[in-house]
Amino acid sequence: MNTIGPIGVFDSGYGGLTILQEFLKVLPEYDYIYLGDNARAPYGNRSFEVVHDFTLEAVRFLQKKGCRLVILACNTSSAKALRTLQQIDLLNEDPDFRVLGVIRPSTETIGAMSKSNCIGILGTQGTVQSSSYKIELEKFSPNIKVVQHACPMWVPLIESNKHHTDIGEKVIENDIKELLEKDAAIDTILLACTHYPLVIEHVKKSVGNHIQVVSQGPIVANKLKDYLSRNEFMRAQISKGNTCHFMTTENAAVFDTSATQFLAKQIRSIQVSL
Ligand code: DGL
Repeated sequence: MNTIGPIGVFDSGYGGLTILQEFLKVLPEYDYIYLGDNARAPYGNRSFEVVHDFTLEAVRFLQKKGCRLVILACNTSSAKALRTLQQIDLLNEDPDFRVLGVIRPSTETIGAMSKSNCIGILGTQGTVQSSSYKIELEKFSPNIKVVQHACPMWVPLIESNKHHTDIGEKVIENDIKELLEKDAAIDTILLACTHYPLVIEHVKKSVGNHIQVVSQGPIVANKLKDYLSRNEFMRAQISKGNTCHFMTTENAAVFDTSATQFLAKQIRSIQVSL
């Protein structure tokens, strides 16, 4: 197919902005469409079927908008829907259209960051239950022990902008304590939810200096850069105009207020239905 279009970046809500932000740093020349399904966030506690159906709707929407490459900037969607999308839903359709996730690039990289060979994974209920991080890390770093902990309250706190309240900070501290109690050898924690970098400073303060806290944005962005440098067919399908359009399934003014805060620049989104 001889068309070009923007890179689609999808998340259940605001979290994917932490990935988009890094794309804009390392690949600023491309056009982007960001889609947040804020009206139906959070996805983390939803069933496989529902996350799959919502994610497929979002990908189809971005495809109709002309995207030739869509990044699921959401661990929950990557864990629960990506494989089915790639291997069933989109198979035999448009052979040059691609959907990629955030788990594979993270697990290719994170293993080498731990000296104690023990990594803590903080994620949503859905991501943790899927065991995607354990399964994928086993392939790239079989010597690494993976210790997971689900934080079901973090996304609702961030989506409602309550993560910096006293209660929000207490919830975060408590989850970190529970993770660290599972294994004293943890020296690296991966924030395996794209919303969590919004609370990274509080996480770092809570764990102390002996544990490194890693967010996925820079990892995923560098892997995408590498992927595009190796895939001429995909590069040729992405339009270059330095633009970024924001779409949300919730109220646009509400999205703009939070997104402007998160990205530290003025955002003007439009409300869409999938
Ligand atoms: N940002 C999504 C993730 O990375 C949050 C999922 C949710 O909506 O709970 O998992």
